Amino acid sequence: MKTVVITGANSGLGFETAKKIAASKEYRVILACRNDAKAAQAKADIIAATGNDAVETLRLDTSLLSSVREFANNYIKAYGTVDVLINNAGISPMRDSGTTEEGFEVVFATNYLGHFLLTQLLLPHMAPNGRIINVSSDMHNPPGGIEWKGVGYLAHEAMIDRRRYSYSKLCAIYFTLKLDELLKKQGSSISVNSFNPGFMAATNFSGGHTDKARALVVKTTMPDRYGELGTSSDALAQIAVDSRFDGVSGQYFDRSTSIKKSSELSYSEGNRDELWNKSLEYCGLR
Ligand SMILES: NC(=O)c1ccc[n+]([C@@H]2O[C@H](COP(=O)([O-])OP(=O)(O)OC[C@H]3O[C@@H](n4cnc5c(N)ncnc54)[C@H](OP(=O)(O)O)[C@@H]3O)[C@@H](O)[C@H]2O)c1
Repeated sequence: MKTVVITGANSGLGFETAKKIAASKEYRVILACRNDAKAAQAKADIIAATGNDAVETLRLDTSLLSSVREFANNYIKAYGTVDVLINNAGISPMRDSGTTEEGFEVVFATNYLGHFLLTQLLLPHMAPNGRIINVSSDMHNPPGGIEWKGVGYLAHEAMIDRRRYSYSKLCAIYFTLKLDELLKKQGSSISVNSFNPGFMAATNFSGGHTDKARALVVKTTMPDRYGELGTSSDALAQIAVDSRFDGVSGQYFDRSTSIKKSSELSYSEGNRDELWNKSLEYCGLR
């Protein structure tokens, strides 16, 4: 049985995607979540909905490198290999702010750095043709755009920067592109892609308020940024396990199984290399 790991799988996009993948019964699905009670409830709901008993929970707090290391050790001990890793957990700066106990800006740490380390630790244990998907956002390129301010700023100084969520999602794309470059150089069969689910009102992302009025505003004024939980989770599940995506790597999927170009800034090789090197340093990997 192949194994799929999904971070932040107790609600929203992660939960729906986990449920869709579990429904095929060909996959064991690991819900990598920070809250044990929510994870247990999600596991029970997915098993009840799909009849697939191979749904497990394992504690992971992506904001803390120590938790990521513990998760990776526990995971390898329990399951040995990973076929698909979906780096989905994420927070909105509207709900969380400040610095982690390890000294990183919390949105950068949760949405990006923890997933960088998790991927590095699981990579040697990935099965041939393994897949990694980094959930990004069209907000990597917010209205008005963003300017790169350096990794040190994002990691340690961006505590009140209103663009810090956008930066974390831009980092997810830089990470995807750099990892893709290295995997291709090594002749690896592992693929890595980014996915934008679009603005989804039906998740807990904005604090659990299904703000229908706001959703309608986004749908009518910014249709190219609007997403639906149902269609985005369908697409993410397909990109994760469907054989037609074998060998597709280094791409940005936009709210569907269609590939699109991400922002011009997201293709900066200099920024990508700076982020990669600093991330290795922050994670104690060099
Ligand atoms: N909703 C949108 O409009 C939208 C748009 C573009 C991109 N996205 C991205 O889509 C992804 C999923 O978000 P969603 O909309 O489904 O929101 P959601 O319902 O709030 O789901 C986010 C999940 O991430 C988990 N999480 C947060 N911090 C974590 C941590 N430190 N360690 C482990 N898990 C953590 C949450 O767990 P708890 O329940 O414990 O908080 C939850 O399970 C995120 O990466 C988000 O940035 C969302």
